[in-house]
Amino acid sequence: MKAGTFLHFASFGIRTVLFRKKDPILGTVIVTDKCNLKCKHCSVNNITAIIHPYEQVKREMKILYDMGVRILFFCGGETFLWKDSGKTIRDLVIEAKQMGFLIVNVVTNGTFPIDLPEADLILLSMDGDRERHNAVRGDTYDTIFENIENATSDNICFYMAVNRINKDAVKDVCYAARDTKNVRAVSFNFHTPYPDTKELALSVEEKRECCEVIKQMMKEKVPVFNLKSAFPYIINNTFPTPCYQCLVIEDGKVSTCGRCIDVPGLCEQCGYFFVAEYTLLFRGNLKVICEMMKTYLKYI
Ligand SMILES: C[S@@+](CC[C@H](N)C(=O)[O-])C[C@H]1O[C@@H](n2cnc3c(N)ncnc32)[C@H](O)[C@@H]1O
Ligand code: SF4
Ligand code: SF4
Repeated sequence: MKAGTFLHFASFGIRTVLFRKKDPILGTVIVTDKCNLKCKHCSVNNITAIIHPYEQVKREMKILYDMGVRILFFCGGETFLWKDSGKTIRDLVIEAKQMGFLIVNVVTNGTFPIDLPEADLILLSMDGDRERHNAVRGDTYDTIFENIENATSDNICFYMAVNRINKDAVKDVCYAARDTKNVRAVSFNFHTPYPDTKELALSVEEKRECCEVIKQMMKEKVPVFNLKSAFPYIINNTFPTPCYQCLVIEDGKVSTCGRCIDVPGLCEQCGYFFVAEYTLLFRGNLKVICEMMKTYLKYI
């Protein structure tokens, strides 16, 4: 991370903690909800299947920038399906950097060739070993690994959503992250139980067991891009929600925290680690602050 970037985030963090501010810093643009997959745990694919036009996406990036966002995520649907006016997701990343975003990340299912060296991180969804990943995501595992092998940069971070189908495959994903060329780390979420996928949610005890495995992996020097100081809050869902420092924009609508903010009762069962990590950070949790600095400096 560049010194200027670090200083921007440090001063934002200090102001937010000291003055209990609610200004945003992290934002997500949903470029499309169209997707080539239909994963068992996902409630957000192909609802409209609209690919939002280039000019609209650019306007939405500017809206977030003007609101103070400096960490930008592109998400979907499948981001690599996004194309308009001769532009691809790679052009959006380059434009986001030119606009002044300090960190630009893309979330993808990894089923398309990966040529995205300008992104700080490519969060590539990996939901287990071959058997369990394919049980969640269809027969995609081998294609994804071929795409990772042929990727033009080493900025890939596995992104695992842990649920009842794949909860025993946390170690497999950790070791794959450690041992696969072009993969820098792994980051976890627990399943967030939307009304149509409630049955995939983990119990408190299952979450505790998964966190123990992740801690053991950290001890074994597996590159995990999460904060163990946040685990107790994540296991028991005792972190504050929503995250006021996070915004998402989809088809012109800006929401605080996630597009799931309008689903009744969901925030109390939120499984997104970033929400716990950011809300605890900005509440001034000292352990989280120290671990966040170390972790971000290591992987970005
Ligand atoms: C909605 S997908 C969009 C990007 C891309 N299609 C992908 O699969 O990575 C973004 C991430 O959300 C995760 N996800 C989807 N539904 C979830 C849920 N109910 N709880 C937690 N994570 C979920 C996916 O596994 C994926 O890692
Ligand atoms: S690839 Fe991503 S958007 Fe598509 S169904 Fe799976 S989780 Fe949902
Ligand atoms: S806290 Fe609520 S809005 Fe934020 S990601 Fe979790 S469920 Fe979605």
